[in-house]
Amino acid sequence: MKRTRIIDAPKFVGKQVKIAGWVNIRRDHGKLIFIDLRDATGIIQTVILPNHDEAYEAAKGLRSEYIIEMEGIVKKRPGESKNEKMSTGDVEIEADVIKVISKPEVESPVDISEENLNIHLSTLLDYRSLTLRNEKIKAIFRVYGDVLKSFGDIMRDSGFQEIKTPKIVNAATEGGANFFKIKYFDRDAYLAQSPQFYKQAGVGIFERVFEIGSVFRAEPHYTTRHVNEYIGMDAEMGFIDNFSDVMDALESVIWHMMKSVENNCKQDLLRYGAEVPKKKAIPRIKLSEALEILKKEYGKEVENEDIDPESERLICQWAKEKHGSDFVFLTHYPGHSRPFYTMPSADGKYTETFDLIFRGIEIATGGQRIHNYEQLVASMKKFGLKPETFKDYLDIFRWGMPPHGGWGLGSERIVQQLLGLKSIKEAVLFPRDVKRLNP
Ligand code: 4AD
Repeated sequence: MKRTRIIDAPKFVGKQVKIAGWVNIRRDHGKLIFIDLRDATGIIQTVILPNHDEAYEAAKGLRSEYIIEMEGIVKKRPGESKNEKMSTGDVEIEADVIKVISKPEVESPVDISEENLNIHLSTLLDYRSLTLRNEKIKAIFRVYGDVLKSFGDIMRDSGFQEIKTPKIVNAATEGGANFFKIKYFDRDAYLAQSPQFYKQAGVGIFERVFEIGSVFRAEPHYTTRHVNEYIGMDAEMGFIDNFSDVMDALESVIWHMMKSVENNCKQDLLRYGAEVPKKKAIPRIKLSEALEILKKEYGKEVENEDIDPESERLICQWAKEKHGSDFVFLTHYPGHSRPFYTMPSADGKYTETFDLIFRGIEIATGGQRIHNYEQLVASMKKFGLKPETFKDYLDIFRWGMPPHGGWGLGSERIVQQLLGLKSIKEAVLFPRDVKRLNP
């Protein structure tokens, strides 16, 4: 008999089916044994009656996470015993054949059949290959999958060419010290801190490019919004008039993604009590104005125009109260807080850049880049960098480049903020942080 996927079982009421999957939980009620069986498509309740001798004996030995095959008749459940929370909740399978395919070697340290695991983050991550089997946790990655897919879809539909760029590079891209140095045969190399240089090269070739790819940051912070390896959703576009064009593009991408998650992940959002922001124009505020607001409304002074996480949270609170918006763009950051490739404003005081903050956390950074060769060399020198070490990057501009700009959008932070997760690490399958290199 061919295997039926659990989600399809309700179509076979009155018929014998074969299903296979993991024992989510076994419950014994008097003489009846109930097994909730889980596969990739969902969970179904099965019942084993004592008159099916062999199946009944086999059922007695089953524990959570046993992998089994079952055969039985699909039956409608009477009204009062329907389970609204299960997508298969109005049927059950009366099983008469049970075959054990694989048994766990050890007793599970966590009961993953619970809706909420209520365990410490470190336990959640230490037993990752087990805890990821929990339905509520899997919901995070369905939302994550939709975020990645909808990003790719809207970028392609908007004429951006998808590219994949090298992650082993010979120079630190974003400056600073937060790069991982690796051994590359007989010399040193780095893990890419962003696809910045290659996506700019991409503009010279395709005009508009995007990449979904790994980004490595040797940041020593132990925070709820940093991991040392994340997936960036980057874009770069040519022939812009100014960096507002980049914000316009990012804004339409954001709304496309929000709509997609809302349409495709209803059940998953419900599990987290999560609300997708309603579409409305995202306020755009100069950083200097934001600092004034922080001072006036919240009595908060920010030194050196370095906006800290608390200020980001407060300015979002303000955007929500004043504009009803879950997002806010902060613009015109000072030069000292941006990399050397950033386009300065005409008066040289600020940069043509923005951050996008979502419910209190920065999810994207972007802006216009310097496209003139001489200006770029001068900027490198101003940052104390040696142009000779950036020959390949500078070549892009030697061949000529249009005005261009783009953004880097953190995929995990979007999911974290959409679902209201306490730590970004919950939105990463196998996260890497300062102390964690496994599992
Ligand atoms: O602000 P970042 O460092 O900007 C760049 O990489 C630029 N090249 C982008 C550009 O095109 N101008 O990173 C961009 C985004 C952040 O807003 C954040 O969402 C995410 O990447 N990000 C991280 N996510 C998780 N862990 C970390 N350590 C992150 N660092 C940045």
